[in-house]
Amino acid sequence: MKHFKLIIALVIFASIVSCNDKRTPQVQYMPDMYESVPYDANGVEGIKGKAVNSKPVAGTIARGGHPAYDIPNTLEGYNKAKAELKNPLEATEANLENGKAMYTIYCATCHGNKGDGQGVLSQREKFEGIPRYDDAARNITEGSIYHVIMYGKNLMGSHASQLTYNERWQIVHYVEKLRTDLAK
Ligand code: HEC
Repeated sequence: MKHFKLIIALVIFASIVSCNDKRTPQVQYMPDMYESVPYDANGVEGIKGKAVNSKPVAGTIARGGHPAYDIPNTLEGYNKAKAELKNPLEATEANLENGKAMYTIYCATCHGNKGDGQGVLSQREKFEGIPRYDDAARNITEGSIYHVIMYGKNLMGSHASQLTYNERWQIVHYVEKLRTDLAK
């Protein structure tokens, strides 16, 4: 029994090691190597307080996008747009051509191809009070036309969701052209 003491020592050692409580976490050396630290993908707080994939700052504009229309749908808003809002697009042939195409689809049924208020829905008396674009009392401007496309006016509904930013301003150019032609 030369190794008796050694065997006893090993048995005691093994029993101490194996009698660990399995339900409590063991000591880990560099735990980051075993357990990844999850990021809160859609939260503002990421690891150590750094912003991760958080929502864009208010007022952020997507590349190629345009600022949101921030003039309110009120009488003051209408007057402000009428006085100050300017068409960012040039009245090029291409812009007028697409403006005409969009106008024919979205506006002509009521306003008529010439903008004289004699669209097919007007003739069939489905809608009343559709004005001529050269109505002196209304004295529409590029800004007021855009505003009305965005929000509508009384019986006329908003056309904001059917048209892109550029298409709306192209229509504005075309409506101004119709207005000029009517007044001739
Ligand atoms: C369903 C019929 C209808 C359609 C479609 C329609 N409109 Fe109108 N629009 C009206 C009526 C009705 C009015 C008169 C609203 C009022 O002042 O009571 C009007 C008024 C206007 C005015 C004068 C607003 C002012 O400042 O007094 C403009 C400009 C105008 N529309 C442009 C457009 C354009 C551009 C489109 C196409 C994107 C369009 N409309 C589509 C019925 C329509």
